[in-house]
Amino acid sequence: MKRLLLSALLFSAAAAAAAGDSMPPTPSAQNADVERGRKLVQNRQETGCVLCHTIPGFKDGGEMGPNLTGLSQRLTPDQIRMRIADPRVINPQSFMPAYFSTEGLHNVAKPLIGKTVLSEQGLEDIVTYLLEATKGP
Ligand code: HEC
Repeated sequence: MKRLLLSALLFSAAAAAAAGDSMPPTPSAQNADVERGRKLVQNRQETGCVLCHTIPGFKDGGEMGPNLTGLSQRLTPDQIRMRIADPRVINPQSFMPAYFSTEGLHNVAKPLIGKTVLSEQGLEDIVTYLLEATKGP
């Protein structure tokens, strides 16, 4: 019970800090893993990132979103985290899914109400993968 309360507190702290154009690391950043991040990015059912983006490390990519090549040279880790957590902060009309937000989402299947698409760990794993995969020429 104590644990649950703590994670609820951490979660609302993260959500509050997410205002603005960047989002500071969550506690899960300490355990972030590049390989897990790569698998998540690759997974078309779970995340679908490659359906919309061309991403270094993957042969086939989509063109609906910006090409993520060189990403770490134009955005800070905190800006990247924010854009994945909730792209609506940057563009309210964004059609990129908000992967770490439960607010203002419509047509959510009942079992998924109140749940984020990515876990906090998944979010951090993906940020770490993108930083690693785009760190330079
Ligand atoms: C349905 C299409 C779609 C999907 C799926 C999608 N994105 Fe996006 N993404 C976009 C669009 C469009 C933008 C441009 C900003 C905007 O209009 O929201 C964007 C912007 C971004 C940016 C900022 C890029 C920049 O150069 O400013 C990052 C980082 C990003 N997406 C990462 C991801 C990751 C990681 C995933 C998977 C977890 C993902 N996206 C899934 C469409 C998508």
